[in-house]
Amino acid sequence: LASLSEATAPPMKTIKIGLLGMGNIGTGTYKTLEMNRPEIESTVDAKVEIVKILERDTERDRGIAVPKEKFTSDPDEIFKDPEIDIVIELLGGIEPATTFMLTAMENGKHVVTANKAAIAANYHKLMDTAKANNVAFRFEASVGGGIPILGTLTGPLRANKFEEVLGILNGTTNYILTMMTQEGLDYDTALRDAQAQGFAEADPTADVEGIDAANKLTILMALMFDKYVAPQDIPTTGITQITKEKIEEARANNCTIKLIAHAKKLENGEVEYEVKPMNMDNSHPLASINKEFNAVFVKGNAVDDVMFYGKGAGPLPTGSAVLGDIIDIAKNVMK
Ligand code: HSE
Repeated sequence: LASLSEATAPPMKTIKIGLLGMGNIGTGTYKTLEMNRPEIESTVDAKVEIVKILERDTERDRGIAVPKEKFTSDPDEIFKDPEIDIVIELLGGIEPATTFMLTAMENGKHVVTANKAAIAANYHKLMDTAKANNVAFRFEASVGGGIPILGTLTGPLRANKFEEVLGILNGTTNYILTMMTQEGLDYDTALRDAQAQGFAEADPTADVEGIDAANKLTILMALMFDKYVAPQDIPTTGITQITKEKIEEARANNCTIKLIAHAKKLENGEVEYEVKPMNMDNSHPLASINKEFNAVFVKGNAVDDVMFYGKGAGPLPTGSAVLGDIIDIAKNVMK
């Protein structure tokens, strides 16, 4: 009987994925899938396969074997392939990433991305295009890396009116500030270290000038307050002016300097927002968030204070969030 039911069981479905970009995060996502494939596949009750990868650099040693035939330099091989269900966009940068995501949606593909710059710049266009094409658009990895903040704000915390958010949202700058504060490292050495570990943007200017944190604050405000503020309209100061003296001065006042993204809903309904280095009193939980860890402190009118903590950058934590979105789509959207 067992062999009869095996023989007649329908073949397991395969969820086919096209991956745009195999840099640090693309590699981390691929590795996370290989590492946890049995658990992921049993959760979605289907096979999950990255079948095509848009990437020119096929020679780079990624520490994982990727069959050469998966690589393509033609994005249409992904967009026009009727077998591909989901496109993961991990190219970074606003263009061509935004156009690629829109094209994928227009071709009926669900889209998952970690690209905060593209989402922050084109939030409504991406959301509207997904809706018009009846596809899912998920971007958990774009804010807080591996921390499941966006799904929590829009899921279990949805019953709240949100009042405030304070976040350490950039792993590179938090790593630099931690190394300067705890190890006395100079700024350049700490930045090189963060780059070597795959936390920094391709051009770390976006990290150290606070632009990356502003992109993430744009996304948080859109979801929490239903208010879109373009990142360039958020008053933003980075960490390039932080000196040893400023760090010592903060220490003498029982404080630690952190790059904080802050937004608050005022009584009149307006939202105030900024990204800047702040002297956090050492009694505040955000003062003790170190290295590439991120934390998001949220106040809701029913839940009160909640804080989320985890690795905000790096290939595997980000890969964890990307694959969480894939699982969500496979379980709840594709069915
Ligand atoms: N460069 C970003 C950071 C990567 O350091 O946080 C994660 O978004």
